Amino acid sequence: MNIIVTGGAGFISSNFIYHMLGKYPDYRIVCVDCLTYAGNFSTLAPIMEKESPKYHENFRFCRINICDRAAIYQLFEEEHPDIVVNFAAESHVDRSIKNPEVFLQTNIFGTQVMMDACRKYGITRYHQVSTDEVYGDLPLDRPDLFFTEETPIHTSSPYSASKASADLLVLAYYRTYDLPVTISRCSNNYGPYHFPEKLIPLVIVNALNDKPLPVYGKGQNVRDWLYVEDHCKAIDLIIHTGKDGEVYNIGGHNEMKNIDIVRIICKVIGKPESLITFVTDRKGHDLRYAIDPAKIHNELGWLPETKFEEGIKKTIQWYLDNREWWESIISGDYQNYYKKYENRR
Ligand code: NAD
Ligand code: DAU
Repeated sequence: MNIIVTGGAGFISSNFIYHMLGKYPDYRIVCVDCLTYAGNFSTLAPIMEKESPKYHENFRFCRINICDRAAIYQLFEEEHPDIVVNFAAESHVDRSIKNPEVFLQTNIFGTQVMMDACRKYGITRYHQVSTDEVYGDLPLDRPDLFFTEETPIHTSSPYSASKASADLLVLAYYRTYDLPVTISRCSNNYGPYHFPEKLIPLVIVNALNDKPLPVYGKGQNVRDWLYVEDHCKAIDLIIHTGKDGEVYNIGGHNEMKNIDIVRIICKVIGKPESLITFVTDRKGHDLRYAIDPAKIHNELGWLPETKFEEGIKKTIQWYLDNREWWESIISGDYQNYYKKYENRR
C-alpha cells in the first residue's frame, strides 16, 4: 500500500504518520507538506535520519504546496498512490478571522487539486480530514443536542466555511465523478506535536514559563476533546473499511468548558490559577461543539480509548520531555530545520 499523507509536518498528520509506520511497517508513506508556519520539519526528521531509532526506509518527505497542480501531478506519476489522506490545511480559527484568503486557497483549492490528481491517476480511496466546526455551534443550555452526520452545515468562521466548502466539493466529486471518497469530521484534538497557538499547548507552554494564560471571554465555551492517537486510529479504520461517499463524525464524548481545561492544566503542572487572564473574546466565537460518534462506532467499531485525565497527563509529560521542540517554535528556529536537513544531504 502506498499512501500520500498531506500536511504531515503538522500536529495530527505527524501523529498519523507515526501511527501508520508503526502499525504497517510495509506501507510506503509519502508526506506532502509545504512547511507553512504550522509545519515543523523537526517532527518528522527522525524518520529520515538513518542513525535514529525512529528511522523508516518506507517514508518520503516532499516539500510541495497542495495548490501546486504541476508538482502534485508529478508526484502522483512518481508514486502511484493507492490512498490519499488530505490533512493539509490552514487550521487556526483566529488566523482565519485576521486573514481569510490563504484559508480559501489551501483548504478549498488545495483540496480540489488533490482530488483532480486522484481522478487523473486513479486511487482506491481519497480521505478528507474535516472538522466538527462545519456544523456551527450548539447552545450552552441544551446538553441533549449533538452533531450527527445529518446536522446541517452552518459555519461561523472563515476557517469553518473553507472546510465546509471543501467537504461539499469532496461530496460533489463522489456524485459527479465517482471518486471513492470518505470524510471524517472530528472534534478538538490534543496531544504531542500540537502547535502552541492552540488552547491546550499554549496554556501548557505558558504555564511552564510562568506566563499569563489567556482565556477568551469568560471561558464558558465548550469543546469536545479527543486524544490525537484516537483520531488517528479512527482515520486508519475509515481508510481501510469505510464506505465510499460516507461522512463519519469522530468525537470523544468529552465536553469541557475552556476555563476548566485551563484549571486542570494549572493543577497538573503545579502553577497558580492567578496566571489565568481573561481577554477579549474571539469574534463569532462558537459556544459549544459536541459530536455524536454513534455511526463510526456502530458501523466501523471505533471508540475513543484515552480518558481525558490520562491523555492530558501524557500530553503535559510530552511537553516536559520535549522542551526543545516547543522552545524552537517560540524562538523561531524550527523554521530553519528543513534548510539544515537539505544542506546535510
Ligand atoms: P496544523 O496546522 O497543525 O498542520 C497543518 C499542516 O499542513 C502543516 O504542517 C502545514 O505546513 C501544512 N500545510 C498548510 N498549508 C499547506 C499547503 N498549501 N500545502 C501543503 N501543506 C500545507 O493542523 P492540524 O491541527 O494538525 O489539523 C490537520 C487537519 O485536521 C486539518 O485539515 C484540520 O482542519 C483538521 N482538524 C483539526 C482538528 C484539531 O483539533 N486540530 C480537529 C478536527 C479536524
Ligand atoms: O473542533 C475542531 C477544531 O478545533 C479544528 O477544526 C481546528 O482546526 C482547531 O484549531 C480547533 O479549533 P478551536 O477554535 O476550537 O481551537 P482553539 O485551540 O483555537 O480554541 C479552543 C477554545 O479555547 C476556543 O473556545 C477558543 C478558546 N481559546 C483559544 C485560545 C487560542 C482561549 O480561550 N484562549 C486562547 O488563547
